[in-house]
Amino acid sequence: MGKQKILITGGAGFIGSHVVRLFVNSYPEYEIYNLDKLTYAGNLENLKDVESKSNYRFIKGDIVDADFITNTFTENKFDGVIHLAAESHVDRSIKHPLDFVMTNVVGTVNLLNAARQNWENDMSGKRFYHVSTDEVYGSLHDDGFFLETTPYSPQSPYSASKASSDHFVRAYRNTYNLPVVISNCSNNYGPNQFPEKLIPLFINNIRNNKPLPVYGKGENVRDWLYVIDHARAIDRVYHHGREGETYNIGGFNEWKNIDLIKVVCKAMDKKLGRAAGESEKLITYVTDRAGHDLRYAIDSTKIMNELGWQPSLQFEEGIEKTIDWYLSNQQWLDDVTSGNYLHYYESMYVNR
Ligand code: NAD
Ligand code: TYD
Repeated sequence: MGKQKILITGGAGFIGSHVVRLFVNSYPEYEIYNLDKLTYAGNLENLKDVESKSNYRFIKGDIVDADFITNTFTENKFDGVIHLAAESHVDRSIKHPLDFVMTNVVGTVNLLNAARQNWENDMSGKRFYHVSTDEVYGSLHDDGFFLETTPYSPQSPYSASKASSDHFVRAYRNTYNLPVVISNCSNNYGPNQFPEKLIPLFINNIRNNKPLPVYGKGENVRDWLYVIDHARAIDRVYHHGREGETYNIGGFNEWKNIDLIKVVCKAMDKKLGRAAGESEKLITYVTDRAGHDLRYAIDSTKIMNELGWQPSLQFEEGIEKTIDWYLSNQQWLDDVTSGNYLHYYESMYVNR
């Protein structure tokens, strides 16, 4: 694709920071602009190792601010967008659904408008890549997988807002010929994930000898993918994905929550030199999440066959690396769990 300016939104977050790092390091000829509001989930510490690279710039800003987004786009003349900025946590969406409508729906439409306005006279070589989730497809029972053709059936305010944003992206292609591509990925895990999501929350709680709040009976199933494998998939879709297509990304790696939690507990006992079974004692069954989706499972055959992508890590290796990262970055964990986050944690679990 030659030299190009790419706007990555949400680059200070969990997945975004891995995408920014991969692009900055792999494509020195590109100019990578990371636009992020730095909400509780955004942390520039995640990008310390790339911040001084000459092909990287950071712009602090809110995608909900239409004028700011249009001006930033017009000023910088981006060739491509990789859009990851979002409110991303289901439990927060249950408490504050409107925040999700604003960032995930209105924010996405603001970006689409800015891209359309800037590109309408010449769409060649342009690309708007929307990063989405498998949760838009709803919840599976025991059998079957989500395919790219599975009808949307979002069940939580989070997934409804992401589904809505996906629909807007497709509508802008259909109506204005905007060159778009979308991917829908399963649950990610790995370094730099904010410890409100299952795996880093439980690693942190085990480290601090705090209860591990398992929702319901722990029987819900998720399909887990190592974050760097997702970033590699995003690289492939951005560069080689067919315009207008959707690609499902997943690890073919399904785990019942309680089984996954036991794997984490065992590994933590070993790492912390605790007696076998010590961490499992922290497991506490709590009231189930409202409308809790039973099972997600992605069929990623299309991206594997068409774009030659596949996960590079086995789950056991990925979990091991993940735990090692959190244990060797305890300052990062303490910094992000102090202050506001503690209040959030108290408000989420006070009645459980
Ligand atoms: P995250 O919550 O860790 O990071 C989100 C980032 O977006 C943060 O840096 C935050 O500051 C920024 N942001 C939030 N609101 C903003 C706004 N109004 N303006 C500008 N920036 C804003 O999320 P994540 O887990 O890294 O997810 C990134 C994307 O990938 C999301 O679109 C999410 O829906 C999608 N996704 C996530 C997963 C997962 O397992 N985490 C799986 C599939 C898809
Ligand atoms: P989460 O990491 O929030 O991802 P998502 O809801 O987007 O899949 O949760 C993963 C699974 O773990 C989900 O079934 C909910 C469950 N869970 C718990 O049992 N306890 C917790 O404290 C959290 C955060 C999640």
